[in-house]
Amino acid sequence: MSDSDRVRLSVTLVDVSPGREAEFLVLADRYCGLIASKGYGRAEMVRDEAIPRRFYAVRHWTDAAAAARCHADADVRAVTAEIYRMAKVSHVVQGAARPDPRRMTLDDRRMRIESDRRAGFERRRENRGRPAGERRSGRDRRLGPRRLRDRAAETDLVGAARRAREHAEAAFSKFKVGAALQSVDGVIITGCNVENATYGLTLCAERVAMFKAISDGHRAFARIAIVADTAEPTPPCGACRQILWEFGGNLEVVLANLVEEKGVYQLKDLLPLPFDARLL
Ligand code: THU
Repeated sequence: MSDSDRVRLSVTLVDVSPGREAEFLVLADRYCGLIASKGYGRAEMVRDEAIPRRFYAVRHWTDAAAAARCHADADVRAVTAEIYRMAKVSHVVQGAARPDPRRMTLDDRRMRIESDRRAGFERRRENRGRPAGERRSGRDRRLGPRRLRDRAAETDLVGAARRAREHAEAAFSKFKVGAALQSVDGVIITGCNVENATYGLTLCAERVAMFKAISDGHRAFARIAIVADTAEPTPPCGACRQILWEFGGNLEVVLANLVEEKGVYQLKDLLPLPFDARLL
């Protein structure tokens, strides 16, 4: 069984607009019915007891191919198009998608590789490597667990923020900031501050990163690193805290300068008593 067949759960967060709940429930029934009757799998719409008008659409696909057929099905698409008109839909778990190795975090890879490690009697005694001269090198080189572990740069969020900072447009303040946001599936999206002659239209690095991520389709996030060239940590401004909270929830916020990490915070502590859609 291939990985794409084994991973087959999709969960979508559905925030229904005020006053549209009754209509939505009819459509949700139709949607779940279609998935069952066409043999794509099983679907249920679970209500969040704590957040008004929030639902979780949980799909257990028969297999990855069934999920793909469902997404392409004209009847299903007609119903989802109507749902999109009355709700904000965010993909939280996209289990039917084929895993993209570039999106794997270092830990995912490590877990796969560790299980393959030989120990004790199982260990190889003789060197069965290729003779010198035929060895793979450069990009061709195969990375074993130990060397893979050294490639910490892959999850080096602070490093990504430092590199993004180099692109800052800070002609007026001369204060360059970089940010790197990590989605729950390990993708890193960076941002830098962008100033302009009217000053007031300035966008901070954190908001640039978040808006880039949203426009690329990411909807669930784990961490953000923020870097400035200062001895004291540079925390996100009030406007950024609000945006990060609304789109990223209680993110881990890592503050760093060009040489060291200065602190790790939870966003809920940086923005106590937040205003958000739950209060609308
Ligand atoms: N800035 C950020 O990009 N992020 C922060 O967390 C604080 C401030 C930017 C905005 C402006 O371009 C410059 O830094 C000075 O305020």
